[in-house]
Amino acid sequence: MRVALGVTGGIAAYKAAELLRTLQDRGLDIQVVMTAGARNFVTPLTFAALSGHKVITGTFGEGGKEPNVESAIEHIAVAQSIDALVIAPATANVIAKMAHGVADDFLTTLCLATKAPIIIAPAMNVNMWENAATKQNLKTLRARGVRVLDPDEGYLACGMTGSGRLTSVESIAQAVFETLNLRDDLRNETILVSAGPTEEPLDPVRYITNRSSGKMGYALAEASRRRGASVTLVSGPTRLAAPAGITVENVRTTAEMRGAMLRGLDRATMVLMAAAVVDFAPARVEAEKIKKSESGLRLELQPTPDILAEISHRRKPQHLIVGFAAETSHLLENAAVKARAKGLDMIVANDVTQEGAGFDSDTNIVTLVFPDGQVKPLEKMSKLDVANAVLDEALALRSKRVAAGGK
Ligand code: C5P
Repeated sequence: MRVALGVTGGIAAYKAAELLRTLQDRGLDIQVVMTAGARNFVTPLTFAALSGHKVITGTFGEGGKEPNVESAIEHIAVAQSIDALVIAPATANVIAKMAHGVADDFLTTLCLATKAPIIIAPAMNVNMWENAATKQNLKTLRARGVRVLDPDEGYLACGMTGSGRLTSVESIAQAVFETLNLRDDLRNETILVSAGPTEEPLDPVRYITNRSSGKMGYALAEASRRRGASVTLVSGPTRLAAPAGITVENVRTTAEMRGAMLRGLDRATMVLMAAAVVDFAPARVEAEKIKKSESGLRLELQPTPDILAEISHRRKPQHLIVGFAAETSHLLENAAVKARAKGLDMIVANDVTQEGAGFDSDTNIVTLVFPDGQVKPLEKMSKLDVANAVLDEALALRSKRVAAGGK
């Protein structure tokens, strides 16, 4: 979803950078629009770097460019493409302009041109806040359906004390999430996710690994975060960028992954073990590179520790434990046996030989398998959708457990 963040010229403009980050944490794409006044307090570069988009400032054709049809269309496209407009901080001036339908720069034009819901977080000197004109303007805006987030009381940058401080970044973000109806059904969960392959060294330059891309685990971390969970992602080597707003622990070997997972376990309420842990490691790691000339080289392998079985062994009442099984045959029978053997609440089984499933694919075709043998096949869908379906099911298990008197 796309949100326009309007920044106007007040001391609190710097707080908009923090707001941008908080909104991004929940998967929102942010287009920043600054007034000329805002540029006296913060530079567009700050917002461009954080948002990954060019910042829209002032009016059409600014920054040396001639006003042209292309820039006018680009501007109108923003009005149509956004799901919400939040202005933080909103000065008395922008509030007055909005109340009177003035459209003399891009932000005020956007306010008129968009049909998306508008949220404003005023911040100003206490006298300006209490001025009858401002009060009247806010009344007008409220009556038109604009959501106004009243400022807090406290010490103001002008040296006075009173009402006028920008309300907290968290409450502004919360108002945006509510307006967009973003799900936050995982806000009480602390989720530990593993992703990607592990690597087992043979010598200083060679290692054994597998074809896992990490996409499923990263999608789980992202979906969990978007739904309000606090997330730690333990990731083997992948080429993926970490989703915003989560803690990432990068690991290489199975032993490192085991350590990171066990460290995160006490705080976690859910464990989603999507990593494709290497099952066999060389019995010996050579200190020197093995010579190519070494004829008849035989590798002795030994099983790696089963991290998931160990986690399940240390299970606390709050834990919901989900495993993943990639198989090439006898998928469902193997998965149900594994769920029972490893003491899991659910296992997500996928046949990696199917087109559109498994490693490196952006889609997946999975079946949710429960220890009692119940199965729920899902359609082919994006890994993010699979992640949400897995989380829905985990939450349903949580509710059943709570209803049964557990955690
Ligand atoms: O037994 P199998 O490897 O098929 O089980 C799959 C599940 O067990 C996955 O969730 C995987 O992350 C986990 N696993 C593990 N440690 C291993 C091997 C697999 O945690 N050594």
